[in-house]
Amino acid sequence: MSSLVWVEIDGKAPEHNLKEMRKGSAPGTKACAVIKSNAYGHGVAQVASLLPSAEWFGVNSLEEGLELRSLGVTRPILLLGHVPLAELSAAIEADLALTIYNRETIRAIAELGSLPHPARVHIKVDTGTGRQGVLPEAVEEFTRLVKGSPRLSLEGLSTHFANIEDTLNHDYAQLQIQRFESALKCAEGIAGRLPYVHTACTAAALLFPSTHFTMLRTGIGLYGLWPSRETLISVREKGTPVDFHPALAWKTKIVQIKTLPEGSYVGYGCSYRTTRRTRLGVLPAGYADGYDRALGNRAHVLVRGRRAAVIGRICMNLSMVDLTDVPGARLEDEVVLLGSSGDERITAETMGEWAGTINYEIVARISPLLPRRVV
Ligand SMILES: Cc1ncc(COP(=O)(O)O)c(C=O)c1O
Repeated sequence: MSSLVWVEIDGKAPEHNLKEMRKGSAPGTKACAVIKSNAYGHGVAQVASLLPSAEWFGVNSLEEGLELRSLGVTRPILLLGHVPLAELSAAIEADLALTIYNRETIRAIAELGSLPHPARVHIKVDTGTGRQGVLPEAVEEFTRLVKGSPRLSLEGLSTHFANIEDTLNHDYAQLQIQRFESALKCAEGIAGRLPYVHTACTAAALLFPSTHFTMLRTGIGLYGLWPSRETLISVREKGTPVDFHPALAWKTKIVQIKTLPEGSYVGYGCSYRTTRRTRLGVLPAGYADGYDRALGNRAHVLVRGRRAAVIGRICMNLSMVDLTDVPGARLEDEVVLLGSSGDERITAETMGEWAGTINYEIVARISPLLPRRVV
């Protein structure tokens, strides 16, 4: 059965992009490939199979970790999000490493009955992001609590940056690095050397090799996307070339073509009125597929190497485009929503600008129901 809306993944891109991010790493530094949220919309099964050199995978939830195990992934998996206290034993039995920042989680594991092995845990330090994590002053207590239970095995310490992508000024990131280094000294003073010390999201990995510690924890770069324009500028200023290959193309087909007279309305709310005789194309993709409603009357798609404007509102399952300037466009022609056709390209960044959001959200919200094909 051929789907009318689908995603194509460049089979070589994720591994190539990971190599680009490892460039500043000391020998032996590991990589935790962040493939949460269906691998940022790219398809978790596909992407996991396209990253043979990633030593770890990082996902958000227990469900995502169990899905990877059910796909046959035997590599270490780090759960970045919260695991409900009642489900900790399921995570440990599947040998999923836990990110720890609640005393209740430590206590619940310590009180579990028999376990096949101790829970692998990574303490997360909130060095200033104001999100998950223990404050630096609590690192000593948490390290002692974890070390005090035979049911827990402390194998990592991590933090996450608050303001490394969105700015050209990295003073706050530097402050977070300093706070993390103090926390690491404290934790290792109690627990000894920790094998997995990780802070580096994509922007950190590209900008500051000092953030690599013993493991990268990168997401967006794997998919060949830049975390932000500021990161691109900062990397260029440093003079270190980074050659990312975007991994994803998002495609559909024209399902109807008709010619409307000048002055005709298009779509719900009559938000568009033709200003000329218009060759209208109907596409079977809408906001239920992740094609953001904000793209109505704003975006372009590519047909036969040419741009066609999206006209009228995006519907749940349909969108309309102006094909007047695409000579030869025919029923069931391929339409590129995201990706390239001929010399034209629509990037996740451009789509993010049209929709008032960022490239991360554009790809992460592509419906997981759409088929992903590796090409
Ligand atoms: C805790 C954590 N680590 C790493 C990442 C990866 O960040 P990036 O996609 O910017 O590389 C994320 C992304 O959301 C995250 O939440």
